Amino acid sequence: MPFQSPNRILVTGGAGYIGSHMALRLAEAGHSVTIVDNCFRGHSAAVDALRKATPNATIAFEKISIHETDRLAQIMRASQIDAVIHFAALAYVGESVERPLDYWWTNLGGTLSLLKAMESANVRRLIFSSTCATYGIPVGGANSIDESCPQHPINPYGAAKLAAEHAISDHQNAILRSGGDFAYAALRYFNVIGCDPQGRIGEDHRPESHLVPSCLLAVLGRREPLCIMGDDYPTSDGTCIRDYVDVGDLCAAHLAALQALTACEALRLNVGTGRGHSVLEVLQACERVCRCAVPAVRGARRAGDPPMLVANATQIQRVLRWSPAVQTLDESIENAWRWMSTNPKGYD
Ligand SMILES: NC(=O)c1ccc[n+]([C@@H]2O[C@H](COP(=O)([O-])OP(=O)(O)OC[C@H]3O[C@@H](n4cnc5c(N)ncnc54)[C@H](O)[C@@H]3O)[C@@H](O)[C@H]2O)c1
Repeated sequence: MPFQSPNRILVTGGAGYIGSHMALRLAEAGHSVTIVDNCFRGHSAAVDALRKATPNATIAFEKISIHETDRLAQIMRASQIDAVIHFAALAYVGESVERPLDYWWTNLGGTLSLLKAMESANVRRLIFSSTCATYGIPVGGANSIDESCPQHPINPYGAAKLAAEHAISDHQNAILRSGGDFAYAALRYFNVIGCDPQGRIGEDHRPESHLVPSCLLAVLGRREPLCIMGDDYPTSDGTCIRDYVDVGDLCAAHLAALQALTACEALRLNVGTGRGHSVLEVLQACERVCRCAVPAVRGARRAGDPPMLVANATQIQRVLRWSPAVQTLDESIENAWRWMSTNPKGYD
């Protein structure tokens, strides 16, 4: 049976960038939302902004770690949670190489704790934030990655996310074998950009390593000039090409997945646009939106960066009937700029 709306949804990492956008979308769609976030990288001010934006919605907030299994289960039981959307994670590739144990502890260990809590509270629907980093360097230099591409991550971030996918799958198999039901979707995001079009919540990673906010922060003078890491790749302008999906479209994909999760579903889907843009194209789009130059310098390549990572997004279009509504980089960047230029210090 598919879900009936509205539902009671637990959002882990809901004080972070994507999680807060998802919580807003769920609240606006009439779901009741419980956010769990230890605010290690998120902001309680983001939850305040969410509540201000949706005064009639139910948004509970528990500032705890996903490692607190018993407390998580208690919250799920008390709030009668129907489904979990699991964003909480550490999400910097470079940091994962320097501090691998933290990444395995949070991204795999935290997911195991969450699964245990779900089992204890009998919650049987899960959407998991996975990543294109699980594919590593596309085999044979493939430019367009589909879900059947081998997953050979090249850093602890991607490896721990892939291990979490496997743990969820094994857990589901065991439940189904014993006659129970459990359904999940592992959504493998490509590069997420943009913000709430009404400017009510935004993107405030600390440190910031994502390309679009880094360009905008450089324009505001809040960081050093952007470093273009490598301009001698075999691409049209020499810079790396990535697939940028708008955060609003990403949230729509989660809502579609939530509706599609029947009793024993196991969805593993790329969420991308199928279109690639180079670093220079993104920088130029930021300049169009901000109407000024993005301070930038050219630097060396970063180890492990493939020249091109673009999703083959045909499967999600077929399975969830999802396709991105935002058609241009400029539209996403305008939304990001609206929030950032009116909140130049972020959530401070
Ligand atoms: N931003 C992207 O482009 C992108 C791309 C692919 C995948 N993802 C995935 O999407 C998810 C959200 O990413 P984001 O960009 O919003 O990151 P984010 O850092 O803004 O959000 C993650 C949230 O998880 C919270 N968190 C971390 N450890 C926790 C713990 N132990 N207990 C409770 N909360 C904890 C942080 O405080 C933060 O609020 C992550 O799982 C990430 O791996 C993001």
